[in-house]
Amino acid sequence: SEKDGIPVGCAVEMIHTYSLIHDDLPCMDDDDLRRGKPTNHKVFGEATAVLAGDGLLTESFKLITSHVSDEVSAEKRLRLVNELISAAGTEGMVGGQVADMEAENRQVTLKELESIHERKTAKLLGFCVIAGAILADAPEEDIETLRTFSSHIGIGFQIRDDILDLEGSEEKIGKRVGSDTTNDKSTYPSLLSLEGAKHKLDVHINEAKRLIGGLSLQKDLLFELCDLIAARDH
Ligand code: IPE
Ligand code: MG
Ligand code: MG
Ligand code: MG
Repeated sequence: SEKDGIPVGCAVEMIHTYSLIHDDLPCMDDDDLRRGKPTNHKVFGEATAVLAGDGLLTESFKLITSHVSDEVSAEKRLRLVNELISAAGTEGMVGGQVADMEAENRQVTLKELESIHERKTAKLLGFCVIAGAILADAPEEDIETLRTFSSHIGIGFQIRDDILDLEGSEEKIGKRVGSDTTNDKSTYPSLLSLEGAKHKLDVHINEAKRLIGGLSLQKDLLFELCDLIAARDH
C-alpha cells in the first residue's frame, strides 16, 4: 500500500541525499552546485555537511523500523533493512564510491567500470525496485528478475549521468558540467567515446525492457522508468 511504500521511499531518499552531500565534498568530487543550489558544504561548512550526511544515513533506517505500519511483518521490515544495507554499504554504494575515487587518473577496463557503476549507483536504485516488490509480496523469482532489471537500469542511469556531465545543460541538471573531466574520472564516455557510451546505454535499457516483458506484474511504470532514464536531461 502507498502508506507503507512512502516511508520506505523516504528512507532511500535520505540515503541518496546523504550520498550526494558527501560526494560533493572537497575531498571527493569537490562540487559547488547541486539541484540548482550551492552544495551543502558551501552553505554550512564542511563539518556540518559531513554530519548532515551522517544524520540522514542513521535516521533513514528508523523510517523502515518505526514508520511502516504493523501490517508489514517485523520479518519483512528486517529484510528491507538488510537489503538497504547491502545496497548502500560497503558491498554497494560506499564500495562503489571507493572504487570510483581509486579509478581517478587512470585507465580502467570496461568490466571494472561496469562494476563501479553497478555498486555506486545501480544497487541503491535496485533497492527502490525490490523494496516495492517485497512489500507487495511478489514471487521470489520475480524479485530476482527485478534485481537483474535494476542492475541494467542503474548502470544505464549512471551512463546517462556521465553523458550529461559532458553535454548536459547546467541549468537543467542543476550541477556543474565538466566535473568528471576536471577530476579525471573513469566514465563511459572517457572509455568508449560519447557515441559508444550512448550505444551502451541503449543496450542496457533494451535488456532491462526485455527482462520485465516476461513478468506478470503491473509494469507500465517500470517501462516508463526505462524511457525516463534513457532520455533524461536533468
Ligand atoms: C555519484 O556519482 C554517485 C553517488 C553514489 C553519490 P557522481 O559523482 O557521478 O554523481 P554526480 O554527477 O556528482 O551527481
Ligand atoms: Mg562522484
Ligand atoms: Mg559527483
Ligand atoms: Mg556524475
